[in-house]
Amino acid sequence: MFHDEWEESSPEARLLSGAKGALDFEENILRPKTMEEYVGQDKVKENLAVFIAAAKARGEALDHVLLYGPPGLGKTTLAHIIANTMGTQIKLTSGPAIERSGDLAAILTNLDDGDILFIDEIHRLNHTVEEILYSAMEDYALDIIVGKGPSARNIRFSLKKFTLIGATTKAGMISGPLRDRFGIICRLDMYTPSELQRIVNRSARMLGISIEKQGSFEIARRSRGTPRIANRLLKRVRDFSAVLGCNEITHAAAKEALARLEIDELGLDETDRNLLRALIEKFGGGPAGLETLAATIGEDVNTIEDVYEPYLLQLGFIARTPRGRVCLKGGYEHMGAVPPESAS
Ligand SMILES: Nc1ncnc2c1ncn2[C@@H]1O[C@H](COP(=O)(O)OP(=O)(O)OP(=O)(O)O)[C@@H](O)[C@H]1O
Ligand SMILES: [Mg+2]
Repeated sequence: MFHDEWEESSPEARLLSGAKGALDFEENILRPKTMEEYVGQDKVKENLAVFIAAAKARGEALDHVLLYGPPGLGKTTLAHIIANTMGTQIKLTSGPAIERSGDLAAILTNLDDGDILFIDEIHRLNHTVEEILYSAMEDYALDIIVGKGPSARNIRFSLKKFTLIGATTKAGMISGPLRDRFGIICRLDMYTPSELQRIVNRSARMLGISIEKQGSFEIARRSRGTPRIANRLLKRVRDFSAVLGCNEITHAAAKEALARLEIDELGLDETDRNLLRALIEKFGGGPAGLETLAATIGEDVNTIEDVYEPYLLQLGFIARTPRGRVCLKGGYEHMGAVPPESAS
């Protein structure tokens, strides 16, 4: 039920998806271990520092924390750092791994005072399991029904004072009652190119790769605001440079490698461009329903929602409307198309 590292993605996970894949086997090495090493997300870090200091001063467990944001932005990393800072143990599991209430009961009764339970993809917990979590989070109690029919009895066990850290890429799919039980809710934002450059430089140092400043900036600005993608591009660019006989990743080598990977100036790949092209050419700029759009470009709905849309929305190239997705002025311009008068 526990995992050293939760991993579900296919080995061929694509280069630009924020989701985890086989290319990320070195991820644990690159994972920052302290708040100081964790680049960016300043507001989240400041708030957490206060809550952690207060909990430590009171000698109590930290309040339950919900971390949400697109894949690869640092939720799992942050959960580990919180545990390090609190000086407590962390146990890792995930929503889909907890199939029955008994699984969760076993996990909860094994926690000690102050322990952190990290549930990744918490939006995928099934309903009966989720209900067990309510009293566990609120009262540190486990309510279990023993027996069936008229002889059924409710037995309550008490639990140690633990901290639940939940992570999700889909905050909207978390039920109200569950969300309300988190005292601390943190949204992780996409990173700026200069933050990503610091991450690329740090990773290069750790992997023994020598890289020019402009080389790391080139990788950073094409990484879709996502540290996992930045690290992955760094490794691919290193491979290209090595083949080209360069010992150092120069600006020119980075540009050449990224061009060969068909990643454009803004970090968009062929699927992003197909999506924009379909929206413009087949749907007159939209609105087009997500499912229709997905079918048109032969992509999976979830992949579009989790991987492609967040960055296109962030760039202001598309928008979500109640009637579907629409292409905005920036999207037209990026594709070299003339935006209609109405596009903003
Ligand atoms: N703030 C950061 N500073 C430096 N490196 C980071 C930061 N955030 C993430 N990383 C790097 O990106 C990698 C991916 O981060 P992480 O696994 O924590 O993402 P995640 O949000 O949990 O993704 P998922 O939604 O797929 O579970 C980490 O291994 C780490 O190397
Ligand atoms: Mg994670």
